[in-house]
Amino acid sequence: MKKKTFIIVVVTIVFAGFLGWRFIRPMNIFVVGDRFAWPVNTTQAPAVLGKLSAGDCAACHGEFYAEWRTTMHSQAWTDPYFQADWRFDGAQHACRLCHTPIDRQLPRKVLGYRDTDKWQPITQINADFDARLQHEGVTCVACHYRDGQIVGVFGNTAAPHPVKVLSDPNQVCVRCHVVAGDRWDTFFRLPPCGTVAEISATLGKSAEITASDTRELGCVQCHMPSLRRPLVKNGIVRDTHRHLWRGGHDPAMVRKALSVEFVETKPTQNNKWRFQLTLANTGAAHYVPTGTPDRHLRLALRVLDAGGRVLDEQTHMIKRTVMWRPFIVDLWDSRLARGQPRRYELDVPADSRAVTVEAELSYHLLTEARCLRIGYKNRTPVSYELVRKQLPLRATVKAPGHE
Ligand code: HEC
Ligand code: HEC
Ligand code: HEC
Ligand code: HEC
Ligand code: HEC
Repeated sequence: MKKKTFIIVVVTIVFAGFLGWRFIRPMNIFVVGDRFAWPVNTTQAPAVLGKLSAGDCAACHGEFYAEWRTTMHSQAWTDPYFQADWRFDGAQHACRLCHTPIDRQLPRKVLGYRDTDKWQPITQINADFDARLQHEGVTCVACHYRDGQIVGVFGNTAAPHPVKVLSDPNQVCVRCHVVAGDRWDTFFRLPPCGTVAEISATLGKSAEITASDTRELGCVQCHMPSLRRPLVKNGIVRDTHRHLWRGGHDPAMVRKALSVEFVETKPTQNNKWRFQLTLANTGAAHYVPTGTPDRHLRLALRVLDAGGRVLDEQTHMIKRTVMWRPFIVDLWDSRLARGQPRRYELDVPADSRAVTVEAELSYHLLTEARCLRIGYKNRTPVSYELVRKQLPLRATVKAPGHE
């Protein structure tokens, strides 16, 4: 009996100690998969590609360069939000593997890993480190360079550099737009930053996408609009794709993802008006919002009086909530899955002083609280309005039951 008590006490202390340690020491939020664990090896780069910088490609492909310059890919390293978040998290090596994936972009060479999750690299000073290339973040060669060749989709071009033909351009995106979280103490329904897995889930497939499945992902069709033009000055006109990759930083792109309908409905009960807002993700194959769990939508439904003052308000957060400690657990996910409309109702009592109802939908890259926590002093807004709609009350028929 005494022995049993002793064992229980020891087990309890060990478990409590483990939980305490887990609360203090943040968990790595994902496993560094083989897909991106190793930087892109450029030791065999042909001389025509110069230093592999976007500027080298721009000498011949000027328009593609000009488009890429406007995108978050070109700022994947310099982006002040990334920099603040990266420093706050302890400036981990793992983050570089997608934000600066080329070997020459890393100040230290990766020789191997100490742990199975691959968060602790064994490194050595990198003599080929190129600070300017590092600042280009997800630069041309991050997507286009493999094994001494430039990856393309044509294969019948007169390029001065060797070309490796891709059977499907979406293969390029998979390296970075999903991370795996498979571990005994991690309970994700979908991986964090799991855009690719979200689409696979909608298609009824598993999260680990294979190269042959990428065609159905559709990333290039939606994120790289088609345009007929030459690849180089005075070249042959071809079917190309614009290098624009718009997402959460672009209100017009986010609006494209959503259908919003705000109407008065027939009341089910007397003595009140009833309004309904229907929100649906009709324009994106993944969830909206997607990507980092910081992204969210906020919906406010308000009842306003003649002076525009708020008499009543309800707010809804459309976001993914994850518990990070002591275990990682997907708590709830109210984001919009493709093609599944969500309805919200607003009731106004018939004796109300209200004259209008209003719906306001806004997009948030991250919360103000998180900005403060990680010390991110944003110079550009972290949220913006997507839709604001008002409907009059008195202009419609009198409230039922008030005849
Ligand atoms: C000296 C000029 C020059 C430089 C530098 C150059 N390219 Fe090209 N590239 C070309 C030409 C010419 C073509 C073929 C155009 C055609 O036939 O329509 C081409 C074709 C391509 C294609 C399409 C290949 C296919 O068959 O699908 C890609 C992709 C490409 N280049 C990317 C790059 C990238 C990325 C860089 C920089 C790392 C780069 N190029 C540097 C001249 C250049
Ligand atoms: C080498 C890694 C890498 C590859 C390959 C890659 N991306 Fe990205 N992508 C990133 C990173 C990192 C960011 C975030 C940059 C930032 O905001 O700091 C990003 C951001 C984006 C965004 C969001 C832009 C915004 O406004 O927030 C879109 C859309 C996107 N990528 C689409 C694509 C598509 C489509 C492909 C395939 C053609 C692709 N990416 C390939 C790493 C990559
Ligand atoms: C995030 C990944 C990514 C980055 C970064 C990127 N490209 Fe591309 N690029 C692609 C993909 C995917 C295609 C194939 C599109 C298709 O299906 O036609 C492509 C196609 C091209 C083509 C052939 C024309 C076409 O549209 O197919 C050229 C030329 C090219 N890229 C040049 C560049 C240059 C120059 C840069 C840097 C300034 C660059 N790319 C950066 C993903 C990328
Ligand atoms: C049917 C069109 C469609 C397809 C297919 C699609 N997207 Fe999107 N994507 C959108 C729209 C619209 C948005 C803007 C809404 C938003 O940001 O949530 C978006 C947003 C994004 C963002 C912005 C997230 C952020 O944090 O700002 C990323 C990253 C992204 N997509 C990546 C991808 C990748 C990678 C694929 C392929 C695996 C893909 N998308 C396939 C339409 C699409
Ligand atoms: C597997 C590739 C990958 C790794 C590893 C990675 N990221 Fe990213 N990161 C992305 C992609 C893709 C995006 C853009 C889409 C999205 O929002 O998820 C992004 C976006 C971000 C953003 C949002 C930037 C913006 O402009 O809004 C931050 C911040 C960020 N990452 C921080 C980190 C930190 C810190 C780490 C290391 C702990 C890290 N990332 C590791 C791929 C990666």
